[in-house]
Amino acid sequence: IKVSKATFVTSAPTIKEAPPASMSEVAFLGRSNVGKSSLLNALTQRKNLAKSSATPGKTKLINFFDVVYKVDENIYPLRFVDLPGYGYAKTSKSLKNAWQKSLTEFLQKRESIRVFVHLIDARHPEMELDAQTRLFLQRIQRGDQKVIEVFTKADKLKQKERAKIKRLYPDALLISSMNKEGIEKLQEKILEHVFG
Ligand code: GTP
Ligand code: MG
Repeated sequence: IKVSKATFVTSAPTIKEAPPASMSEVAFLGRSNVGKSSLLNALTQRKNLAKSSATPGKTKLINFFDVVYKVDENIYPLRFVDLPGYGYAKTSKSLKNAWQKSLTEFLQKRESIRVFVHLIDARHPEMELDAQTRLFLQRIQRGDQKVIEVFTKADKLKQKERAKIKRLYPDALLISSMNKEGIEKLQEKILEHVFG
């Protein structure tokens, strides 16, 4: 799988300002600091296409990227959507609620989303917020949409922790944007669902 294009399209604060829903989209969601922007960079083989940061709450808008994968001579165009992390405690409550509302609206109403990539920190696989997100996605998921759960920062796991995740979530994908574990597999899963 080759990346023949990866470019920033635009940022939007809400669904109303989003670009036309004209392409198959892959939305990345998860808690603040879980590694969404880093994963987007790993999937596109770019260092700093999506801005990542050690400070949670880095991504504040909905960011759109055009990505073209190439396999043999076949071209697979996608749009990646990097979302602000939820559950970021440091913003004011009202701002948090406003974000939450516009994010929820976006995820529910954006008809072009074909894949939700739900990122969960592999070191904390059983957080309440992630359980809520799992249920929320199950509830809003349409027939043509797929949810892929990925457990991030797998490079930080001990063998025992890896085994536990595999046991609890047999379908889950362990990934690391740092050492690229699971990245090609995730690319394959996305392409398979959208174009397969
Ligand atoms: P927000 O935009 O704030 O919601 O965060 P985010 O989910 O986009 O996270 P981001 O990609 O900015 O990464 C947060 C921090 O985790 C950064 O310090 C990254 O370097 C680190 N990080 C991301 N992915 C990995 C990984 O696979 N392994 C390790 N060890 N660190 C990672
Ligand atoms: Mg981010």
